[in-house]
Amino acid sequence: MADKIPLLTPYKMGKFELSHRVVLAPLTRQRSFGNVPQPHATLYYAQRTTKGGLLIAEATGVSDTAQGYPETPGIWTKQQVEAWKPIVDAVHAKEGIFFCQIWHVGRVSNAGFQPNGQAPISSTDKGFTSGGGIDVATFTPPRKLTKHEIPRVVDDFRVAARNAIEAGFDGVEIHGAHGYLIDQFMKDGVNDRTDEYGGSLENRCRFALEVVDAVVKEIGADKVGIRLSPFANYMQSGDSNPEELGLYMAESLNKYKILYCHMVEPRMKSLGEKVDSLHSLVPMRNAFKGTFISAGGYDMNDGNNVVAENRTDLVAYGRLFLANPDLPKRFQLNAPLNKYNRETFYTPDPVLGYTDYPFLETTF
Ligand SMILES: Cc1cc2nc3c(=O)[nH]c(=O)nc-3n(C[C@H](O)[C@H](O)[C@H](O)COP(=O)(O)O)c2cc1C
Repeated sequence: MADKIPLLTPYKMGKFELSHRVVLAPLTRQRSFGNVPQPHATLYYAQRTTKGGLLIAEATGVSDTAQGYPETPGIWTKQQVEAWKPIVDAVHAKEGIFFCQIWHVGRVSNAGFQPNGQAPISSTDKGFTSGGGIDVATFTPPRKLTKHEIPRVVDDFRVAARNAIEAGFDGVEIHGAHGYLIDQFMKDGVNDRTDEYGGSLENRCRFALEVVDAVVKEIGADKVGIRLSPFANYMQSGDSNPEELGLYMAESLNKYKILYCHMVEPRMKSLGEKVDSLHSLVPMRNAFKGTFISAGGYDMNDGNNVVAENRTDLVAYGRLFLANPDLPKRFQLNAPLNKYNRETFYTPDPVLGYTDYPFLETTF
């Protein structure tokens, strides 16, 4: 048998023995009716499970103020926790490792998603400005959290992490990327606070690190990862010095000894498009002492190279894994890939564009 390609070599992530390095990236699929995970998600995640493979569940709301899109799952009620259990069990039955991405959208919301039709909460009361593909009418201008309210939101993340463990997940990934609440605190393009949660880099990262601290204390650092996208400006969340921000976070996270840091490549300025970038994640990879996961625009060759050159430990695949439930196997066989269909990324159908992407015909 030929030597294994770098992506398919084993890797020990903390106490988890991964059999390969192809990770399922968190992918919002908007099929969790009423914010409750549905039975059809069992098949979807089980299809993408391999023995010793790491899967990160779609962004999952931490509280009743955390939503900004229709039919995304939550993990703050008993009903939601119970609904996650069979899904997690199905992944475990195939010996996969499953982390839950815990999420608060902050200002990427509107009053229709909020309890009592209130304004979404954020680090700021600045709403979006038109342009760059944003339809401002979709969003309600946010209300800036007072500093006395912030501990309550930190606590929502703590409780969500506890609930994720209760549901059976192996750990959580704190969603600190893509212009959502945590990113709204970190990025100087959004955060305009004058208290200890705004201004200096240290102050802007305070909220993120308080969430990390609370979650680590609740479930243990060996079960905690975080996702960051310092270079992205998705949902008008740009920063004037992303490299400095990414490095500061990588170094600060070392103090909490968390399991992994998952960063989105600078070439993914927006969620779905790859652009040329001169920046690199290597300085952050070198600064962070735990497992490093890279994501964004990877194909097989690119993934093999980044692992072979030790620029990351693991590679998360989004769109390719969405469309190829047996992606690691296809890489192993260098087989052709199914093409993803954007039209059905977020449609509510429980099968179409969700669990009907074909597997390789296995004649081997
Ligand atoms: C349909 C879709 C849903 C996504 N949902 C999430 C999400 O819930 N959380 C997150 O951090 N990123 C999300 N992303 C970003 C992906 O995790 C990934 O970083 C991005 O697709 C780039 O990787 P790729 O080139 O391998 O697709 C989503 C992307 C897509 C296409």
